[in-house]
Amino acid sequence: MDRLISDRTNGVPDFSLTDEVMPPTEWPTAGAGMLELRQILSADQRTFLGVDTMITTLVWLLRGYDEEIYEHSCHVADWAVRIGQAMELKSCQLLTLRHAGLLHDFGKLALPRHFWRKSGAFSPDEVRLARRHPRFGSGMLAAVRGLAAVLPGVRYHHERFDGSGYPYGLSGDRIPLIARILAVADSYSAMTTARSYRRAISNDDACRELVRCAGRQFDPFVVRIFLHLAQPTFVD
Ligand SMILES: [Fe+2]
Repeated sequence: MDRLISDRTNGVPDFSLTDEVMPPTEWPTAGAGMLELRQILSADQRTFLGVDTMITTLVWLLRGYDEEIYEHSCHVADWAVRIGQAMELKSCQLLTLRHAGLLHDFGKLALPRHFWRKSGAFSPDEVRLARRHPRFGSGMLAAVRGLAAVLPGVRYHHERFDGSGYPYGLSGDRIPLIARILAVADSYSAMTTARSYRRAISNDDACRELVRCAGRQFDPFVVRIFLHLAQPTFVD
């Protein structure tokens, strides 16, 4: 695993995130009033608290909109963070990965809930509309102060490594790492979770599918990291 990381990333990879949002290292006492709170917390810590509160609110919105999308988003966030930890990303990057995982499909809220619950196949027009959800999501979240680091994950999580994805057709390392990680976590979660319109497949079968699509749909390096976590016997 160490060799895998150093081969490709030389330490910290091209994670286009800022380091400015860090969790508080000291928490105020329970009795602290708002004035004391402002004095205790640094500007960065206040920013973190504001962002965290905002994301909690957005995730509650997502849950109210559709429980399945919410559960899927939590699943994606958990796996994305595990991949990030295996890649030895910094704590602020892991936090951003978690937030981006939770909000990656937020753009689905731009369309009526019944649109996503359709039982049959989408028409070509519906496919075009569905494929706009990364743009919808990044557009909506761009209006929220403090979420800039999350936007690349939301905007590019359906790009494919070979350039055949959407909405921009980016390829290879032009796709931000945060989005390449989310793509693997997203697909694994989708494949291993049952839906009304399809059955779940096993962990082994999902890993085989990730391997089959490595280099085309997925960053092969991210897939190898994922397999170390989900199915070590697959890794040579
Ligand atoms: Fe999506």
